[in-house]
Amino acid sequence: MHEKIEKNTGVMAVLIVLAISIGGLVEIVPLMFKGAVVDPAPGVHVYSPLRLAGRDIYVKEGCYSCHSQQIRPFRSETERYGHYSVAGEFVYDRPFQWGSKRTGPDLARVGGRYSDDWHYLHMVDPRAVVPDSNMPAYPWLAERMVDADQLQRNLRALQLIGDPYEDAVIEGVPEAVAGKTELDALVAYLQGLGTEWTGQNEVSAAVGGGQ
Ligand code: HEC
Repeated sequence: MHEKIEKNTGVMAVLIVLAISIGGLVEIVPLMFKGAVVDPAPGVHVYSPLRLAGRDIYVKEGCYSCHSQQIRPFRSETERYGHYSVAGEFVYDRPFQWGSKRTGPDLARVGGRYSDDWHYLHMVDPRAVVPDSNMPAYPWLAERMVDADQLQRNLRALQLIGDPYEDAVIEGVPEAVAGKTELDALVAYLQGLGTEWTGQNEVSAAVGGGQ
């Protein structure tokens, strides 16, 4: 039987695909129903409209090509960046910005680490605050205004696929972002990163120490 299958590439190919599919499904399907993965972690909310606009700019400008947003559960990481990331922190990230390329530091918990002023200066001219930085400058963000129409459409799309945005929030987008530049939105996004989750202590207790 074994020999027959090995000598018949057609049958072999079909059986390989079958075996891999079953293996894949067994790993993937349970995750779709596992609370720790699909439910927001305690304290984690949908992005406010301004922060969501900032997130879109982060993606548009390709910040992920130098920055990851996922702290691994290793001491070398947690000592530097804070508590390791958990899946429930990313349920409203579509797509998530985890990544593995770290030309710059991980940003998963950068929120609150610097002042708003520091971020404004850093984005317009990184070398003004970190003299040997090789991060590019993004001065145009300070001149471009947030596109309220686009943002409203994005929010409606997210609401459609189940993110709990209230209609009033979506209606209020033009007001919420009136006079805001893309840089305002990006800084609001950065300042929120990693600040919402409140379950650190429980997780640390469950795994015996955590950080
Ligand atoms: C070419 C690689 C590169 C790109 C692209 C890049 N960065 Fe950076 N970034 C760095 C490096 C290197 C540093 C460390 C030096 C510094 O602070 O400027 C850094 C630092 C940072 C910091 C400070 C982090 C900390 O913990 O000190 C923030 C915030 C940041 N970048 C945000 C951004 C955002 C937002 C974008 C996209 C608009 C971006 N970066 C694009 C390389 C990059």
